[in-house]
Amino acid sequence: MPVITNIDDLKELYRRRVPKMFYDYAESGSWTEQTFRDNERDFDLIRLRQRVAVDMSGRSTASTMIGEEVALPVALAPVGLTGMQCADGEIKAARAAEKFGVPFTLSTMSICSIEDVAEHTTRPFWFQLYTMKDTDFTSRLIERARAAGCSALVITLDLQILGQRHKDLKNGLSAPPKLTLPVMLDLATKWRWGLEMLGTKRRQFGNIVGHVKGVSDTSSLMAWTAEQFDPALDWGKVAKLMEQWGGKVILKGILDVEDAKKAAELGADAIVVSNHGGRQLDGALSSIRALPAILDAVGDKVEVHLDGGIRSGQDILKAVAMGAQGTYIGRAFVYGLGAMGEAGVTKALEILQREFDLTMAFCGRRRVEEVDRDILLVPEDFEGRWKDWGPRKRRA
Ligand SMILES: Cc1cc2nc3c(=O)[nH]c(=O)nc-3n(C[C@H](O)[C@H](O)[C@H](O)COP(=O)(O)O)c2cc1C
Repeated sequence: MPVITNIDDLKELYRRRVPKMFYDYAESGSWTEQTFRDNERDFDLIRLRQRVAVDMSGRSTASTMIGEEVALPVALAPVGLTGMQCADGEIKAARAAEKFGVPFTLSTMSICSIEDVAEHTTRPFWFQLYTMKDTDFTSRLIERARAAGCSALVITLDLQILGQRHKDLKNGLSAPPKLTLPVMLDLATKWRWGLEMLGTKRRQFGNIVGHVKGVSDTSSLMAWTAEQFDPALDWGKVAKLMEQWGGKVILKGILDVEDAKKAAELGADAIVVSNHGGRQLDGALSSIRALPAILDAVGDKVEVHLDGGIRSGQDILKAVAMGAQGTYIGRAFVYGLGAMGEAGVTKALEILQREFDLTMAFCGRRRVEEVDRDILLVPEDFEGRWKDWGPRKRRA
């Protein structure tokens, strides 16, 4: 077993252990992958101020997100098909998160169902909702999340239509995978994954199969989901969903100041500055670049969270120092899960916490509340100076 010291080590192990189809599914962005790359790269542009001779004893990485106590200002992001990265993946990730003391968000497109995850955990988790054209189904999802005791509804706003990811099309992504010759050759080297997968009955979209009329097998399911996301989602519908839920709501996928203002007006408990990990609008700003302007606009009205590109505790610290109340990790926990199951997710969280803690100390801070923009060295033009064209003149 190699010595694992950082998230990249987990990623390498993950690459070796999980079928290429699912590795590619996670490790890709839409079209040219510019935004996917920028999410990570833009964190690297920010530097930190080293401080010395500051009492660094008695440190804590604890904080809160939407009023819930967290051991580290991090939640596990909703990731579809997590149960294909590793057998029973959502249950394993949720358990690791719960033991560590950070929130777990279950995706609508999970393999393990809401009820299944609730049965195998002891603390409430968050449920991420995709709005579907089938409004009855969407309503039932909300009621099922309520019945399962979920403590927040995360409504994703940036996936009314699906961004194209070339690799998924080329690989013929499906859950479970179709046993074509290339898939079988690949599986021959991923025997651990295969054995574990044979040992579980959870191999389809658990929130959907058996809950929608006419969907009983995967082939019709893939067709159903491709058509089912609601392209007509608007703020009016978001308000209705919030009303139906009635509990804490996090609006995910905000990248623009005007949208952030709208979300704050609706009374969301938090917004997530996110571009879906670079998987939707290729060419959109990285999340960390979009963050400062959104904080300036609504930071005093709504809790602001961020995801996209977080691969280290330093990244978390940078986002929090800029003003985010919390962050989410998507791929960073998937790497751990695919590499080593539940223990791998725990490992990922431990790595991030240690990096966060030590980096905070090197910056002369002992607690998350003390972390502020003063520890950051941000390039003058970090947010980008984009040309203001003014109103477009049209021919009469
Ligand atoms: C493989 C994969 C599947 C995802 N599935 C969902 C999903 O079902 N619902 C959702 O709201 N976001 C989904 N996301 C986006 C994540 O919630 C999150 O925004 C993103 O992963 C953050 O970027 P990071 O992976 O660089 O941390 C997914 C991301 C990945 C990588």
